[in-house]
Amino acid sequence: MKIIKLAGLVDIHVHFRDPGQTFKEDFHTGSVSALAGGITTVFDMPNNLIPVFKKSVLFDKFKIAGKKAVCDWGLYFGSVGDNTHEFEKVAGYVVGLKVYLSLTTGKYVVADEEKIKAIMAAWPKNKNIVFHAEGDRVDLIIKLTEKFKNKVHVTHINTRESLEKIIYAKKNKLPVTCDVTPHHLFLDNTSVKGSDRPPIETVLNFVKPPLATKRDRDFLWENLSWIDCLVSDHAPHTLAEKKSVNPPPGVPGLETMLPLMLTAVNDGRLSLKDLIRLTSVNPRKIFGLSKDDSSYVEVDTDDKYRIDNSSLLTKCGWTPFHGWEVMGRIKKVVIRNMAVFENGRILARKGSGKNVSVIT
Ligand code: NCD
Ligand code: ZN
Repeated sequence: MKIIKLAGLVDIHVHFRDPGQTFKEDFHTGSVSALAGGITTVFDMPNNLIPVFKKSVLFDKFKIAGKKAVCDWGLYFGSVGDNTHEFEKVAGYVVGLKVYLSLTTGKYVVADEEKIKAIMAAWPKNKNIVFHAEGDRVDLIIKLTEKFKNKVHVTHINTRESLEKIIYAKKNKLPVTCDVTPHHLFLDNTSVKGSDRPPIETVLNFVKPPLATKRDRDFLWENLSWIDCLVSDHAPHTLAEKKSVNPPPGVPGLETMLPLMLTAVNDGRLSLKDLIRLTSVNPRKIFGLSKDDSSYVEVDTDDKYRIDNSSLLTKCGWTPFHGWEVMGRIKKVVIRNMAVFENGRILARKGSGKNVSVIT
């Protein structure tokens, strides 16, 4: 047994499906899953069934999260370009704005460049806009950032090409940051090749942006120093949905992120310092959260075991990493000096999680 203490993880990209699709996850089960994964703060995305594009919808969601969350949380506002008049009313209450430039769950895509420009012009310059951008949309966002000078964060980078563009923007001192998910680091599309009937694990791994090649994955690992944050993009869907003829994109990830990354630390793929930078230091810095020494995680870095669907606390009950051997178990989670998770048990009371949105 070797217990080490880490800063509580801040996961700036999750989907708790509450309200609207609580059969997949809700704010209680999602935040329980976060604690089991060593994550003390989550930022929830706006692509609910009724999207968070209006102040009234946002405030209804505040109430839900306030009643149910067992970890700390913040919410994003969303836009497809027709609600810019709401921006000044909500910006002070949210962690940022989320804009989809590529198709995914919810289909809230903004394709028209003029609309993207209107969004960037209207959103306050001191708050982040998180973009889902793939392929040429990354070029577009970099071009527009040069003009509009927003704080831009490109989430879930999946390919070498996308990361190269972000590196170029960073070298040119543009206010652009980015993140990567464990599934884009650990999984690739090689298993799809040459099969007309994809194996079940391929179907389950259908995600946006899509898993890329081994070459892409290698490039992400080799260039972790250019990547600012690590996010789970926890996107729970039921197994029945994933196995259906028209499966939705997305995989759950809260409970597997830290064990997978601790295993990578053990394998010498990154340093513990890097892991802390990606999961705590940078998310806090980019989103303006102050350092919090009273929220932390204790992990046993010597504990070797297999990830198993049956031990997960997420409501969706499965992971693409089922059966993977990992090294590193989350033993205890403390938020604001209160033990909230210990030896597999949730100790926090529903609603004890706090809204961390910074009023600026
Ligand atoms: C996410 C979801 O299901 O909400 N799906 C996914 O494949 N990542 C949406 C998203 O982040 O693109
Ligand atoms: Zn997402």
